[in-house]
This record gives sequence, structure tokens and C-alpha cells, in this order.
Amino acid sequence: MPKLTPDTVLHRAPSFIAEVDTSNEAKVHYESRILKFGHDAFALLNLFHTPRTVGQALTLLGPRLKGPRATREALATVVSLHQAGLLRTEPVEGFSNQPFPKGGYDAAFVHIAMLEDPVRKAAFQQAVRETVRDGDVVLDLGTGSGILAITAAQAGARKVYAVEPAGMVHLAQRIAERNGVVDHIEFIRGWSPQMELPERADVLLTDIVGNEALDMQIWETVQDARRRLLNDSPRLVPGKLTAFATLARIPDAVLDKHRVTHDHLARWKEMFGIDFSPMAESESRRSIGFYERPETVQTWDVLSRPTELYQVDLHQDASGSLETLCTLAASHTGEANGVIVHFEAQLGYTTTLSTAPWLGCARSHWYTAVWALPDVIKVGPGQELNYSYRYFGDGTSRLEFVSGQ
Ligand SMILES: C[S@@+](CC[C@H](N)C(=O)[O-])C[C@H]1O[C@@H](n2cnc3c(N)ncnc32)[C@H](O)[C@@H]1O
Repeated sequence: MPKLTPDTVLHRAPSFIAEVDTSNEAKVHYESRILKFGHDAFALLNLFHTPRTVGQALTLLGPRLKGPRATREALATVVSLHQAGLLRTEPVEGFSNQPFPKGGYDAAFVHIAMLEDPVRKAAFQQAVRETVRDGDVVLDLGTGSGILAITAAQAGARKVYAVEPAGMVHLAQRIAERNGVVDHIEFIRGWSPQMELPERADVLLTDIVGNEALDMQIWETVQDARRRLLNDSPRLVPGKLTAFATLARIPDAVLDKHRVTHDHLARWKEMFGIDFSPMAESESRRSIGFYERPETVQTWDVLSRPTELYQVDLHQDASGSLETLCTLAASHTGEANGVIVHFEAQLGYTTTLSTAPWLGCARSHWYTAVWALPDVIKVGPGQELNYSYRYFGDGTSRLEFVSGQ
């Protein structure tokens, strides 16, 4: 095992269970073992959720460390966590061999799904070719397999900074070598908010676009990049994200995967001899958000036209959170119990990409965002229902029914 120095970059293992035991020590369940560490272990595991050096972590922990003894103890905890495999140094040179789902963005299946998507990567590639000009400096934020960075270099970029926290970045570098453009690309392992670049970029490429557009924190991340890493009037791919809401009847069989019903309780009582009814009682009267495959959503009764829910122009300075009211008018008689959310991303001057499930996205990598409302509302043509929507500025959101019954 390599010796740790203050400059050693460590990051924590992707999956483990931690608890405090009665003697105030940290107890970690990891790969079929139960391990005990000093009380600094939680704070250290928290700090190493993104790769950073041992020195940086101890500096950040500084205010908690009262005196040299506490610093020595924290250092000893870092060493123990490293020896246990909970903090790691080794770069991943190929796809992760971690079992599902630990591989994350290092796992082959994630990239297969994205590269097999007939819409997503082709649209991004077209937008990159439309946007990048000869001699540009480009930032590819979240490079993954390197596809956008390599396309930018092929399109004439002088320099591409390709940033990626996952070990996949090493594989992306080899792909760039194989394609003869590695001299134009600097691959940097890390998270964009924690990095500096030697120069500001003219173009930002980023595909951190989640199922509900904002849920991978593209808005906050691009704002940070605009402040520190890009020039004053950068070209952004994507530049604008518009989300749409559509009234729908979610089939009961789908809802039953997300709500505890009387049928569930009766079945579980019979199967296990246990009354689980507090699970249903604890459910609030709030909406439940989940993701569903677009080819499933396509089959549902759609009760309104798609109506704009919000629009985020990534070129504009903004608070990074939003609150909006949306009125959906029923197009025909039916029972409304859900709202489908899809988005359009403006990628290039002529390239727009839509995740509307009824456009036939059976092979889309993206899932469709769905909000299940607590009540079923019988609607007739023209009847208007009002919904509030909030994006909290941290990748999370909430849609609720307001009025219109
Ligand atoms: C959806 S994948 C896209 C990968 C690749 N650009 C592509 O087009 O196939 C998003 C990638 O962004 C990375 N990522 C997310 N947030 C990031 C951030 N703030 N800084 C750097 N990379 C980030 C993730 O690790 C992931 O590999």
C-alpha cells in the first residue's frame, strides 16, 4: 500500500453504511466487515466525498482540531480509513470492476446507455460542431467517455480542458490518444467547483442534464463556471433549458409502486403476519416525484397540452432557485392524478433536443419525470388546474396541486 503524504489525493469508497456506537466511535459496515474508527472518521469521510489531498482535508478539518494531538489523531484516522479501503488513491485505468451499482460513472453500462441513445449524443455532437470555432479554448465539464471533448478538438479547438471526477477520465484520455487529438486536450480529474484553469474558456460543453433538466445541478454548476472559468460572453452548450408540464392519468399499477395501499397492507399482513399500516399512515398528503421510462409514459392518458413550467437561460445570472405557478387546462374528460415533466434543451444555433415521451424516445437514455398527486380529480374540457413548482437550487424540486377542483 503506498505511503500517504500531505499531497496524496484520496477519495472515499462509493458505498458503505456508517453509524455511531455507544462509545461515540464511528462504526462502518463495509464489504461484509464492521470497522471502528476515531470520532473524526465521519467528518473525514464527508470531506473526501470529492477527491482532495490529505493536506487539504486536514486544513478544512482544522477548526475542529484542538492542538497537535488532535491533528495526529485525525491523521491516524486517515491512515486507518485508507488501509481499510474506505479512502482510496488508485486511479481507475479502465471501466470499473466494481459490482453494480458501485461503479457509477466508471461503469461501462452507463456509457453504453448514453452512446446507444439515438438522440442524445448525436444532437450534442452536432451542437459542438455548430458552436466550436478554430482556435477556441473549450471547457468540457463532465467529460465521461470524452466524446464532447474529442468532437471539439476535431472541430478545431486549440485547447480543450476535459474535467471529470470519475476514474473514467483516464479511459477518456486513451480514447483521445487513439483518435489522434490528445495533444489538444488536457484531461483533469476533479469537480469543476473545486478547480482553476490556466486560462478562461470561450466555449462550455456540458451534458450534466438530468431527467428533470436541473436535477444534476447544471444551473448552479454553469453559474460557477461562468464566474471563474469562462470568458465574459461564452458560448454555452446547452444554452437554455425549458421544462413543460402535462396533465395525465397515471395507471394504478404504476402508482402502486410508489404508494402504500390497503391492498399492499392486506397482502403483507397475510404473507408476514405483521401489520404495516403505519407505513400508509405516515404518508403525507403531498405529491410524490419519480422517474418512469418514456415508452411507458407514452401509453398513459394525456389530459392537457404540454405547458411551459419554467425556462432557465444559462447565460443569465440567477439565484439558482425558482418558484412558479403553472395552469394546465384539460383537453378532454378524464381523471387527472399526475403531471408529466419533460424538457427541451437548446444545444446549438439550430440544434434543440426534446425529451417529450410521446416523441418516441424508446431508446432514450433519459427517464421521464412524473409527479403523482395525492387525489384523483375528474376533469372536463377546458377545466383549469393550478400547480406550484419549486426548484430549490440543490438538484431537488417539488410540484404540488394548488387549486382548480
Ligand atoms: C451524463 S454524463 C455525460 C458524460 C459525457 N460528457 C458524455 O457526453 O457522454 C455527466 C458526467 O459529468 C460528470 N460531472 C457531473 N458534475 C460534474 C462537475 N461539477 N464537474 C465535473 N464533472 C461533473 C459526471 O461524473 C459524469 O461523468
